[in-house]
Amino acid sequence: MRDRVFTVNRPSALHDTKTAYDAVAPLYAELFSDVLDSLPMERALLAAFAELVQAHDAGPVADIGCGPGHVTAHVHALGPTTFGIDLSSEMVALARRAHPELRFDEGSMTDLDLADGTLGGVLALYSVIHTPPARLPAVFAEFQRVLAPGGHLLLGFFAGDDPLPQEFDHKVALAYRWSPDALADLLRRAGFAEVARLLREPREGERFQQAHLLMRKP
Ligand SMILES: C[S@@+](CC[C@H](N)C(=O)[O-])C[C@H]1O[C@@H](n2cnc3c(N)ncnc32)[C@H](O)[C@@H]1O
Repeated sequence: MRDRVFTVNRPSALHDTKTAYDAVAPLYAELFSDVLDSLPMERALLAAFAELVQAHDAGPVADIGCGPGHVTAHVHALGPTTFGIDLSSEMVALARRAHPELRFDEGSMTDLDLADGTLGGVLALYSVIHTPPARLPAVFAEFQRVLAPGGHLLLGFFAGDDPLPQEFDHKVALAYRWSPDALADLLRRAGFAEVARLLREPREGERFQQAHLLMRKP
């Protein structure tokens, strides 16, 4: 299983993820659009992220893998101009309908249609979990490319204890859990510096610890 995580060639991973999220987009929006109301620690971290981005004033925030756009709208309301990007056209359509005043684009984190050094912040909340581990360095290089120096990245994911990423039976599409140390190492190798991290115990109905890494492009 461990070898498989690193060696399997899954050219269809993006297509499979897009198709899976297109199929569940309305249900996902119904279940999660209000989730921040009951997550005080995540709200606190998003407030800190928004404050740091605004203080640096280096450009807008892209919420990459934004789903139905609830976090995009939340961060935008905190101050920084924020727009969303998602692989799933159905998610983008729902996000546009729910937040017509905001910008949402279809696109993939593996090949962002954004100029170098133009973003003050990148949010990637539970979206890199679907990227096969061997392809994550290229995604983090892409985040580095689009961020301005001093820009911040907030990454959310399901945590695991194993030093190697572990596949798990995510309800929508194949996904991976990461140890916060391993993912922080990978981000450091991509050029990011760690600012802070949050590890939260699972709430009722959740299976895993939830982790956030707040990183900065030097
Ligand atoms: C678990 S949902 C998270 C949505 C939202 N960020 C949240 O926290 O509720 C994962 C989202 O990431 C998107 N996604 C997965 N792979 C992506 C990629 N390569 N590029 C852009 N979006 C992607 C999916 O379409 C889906 O909307």
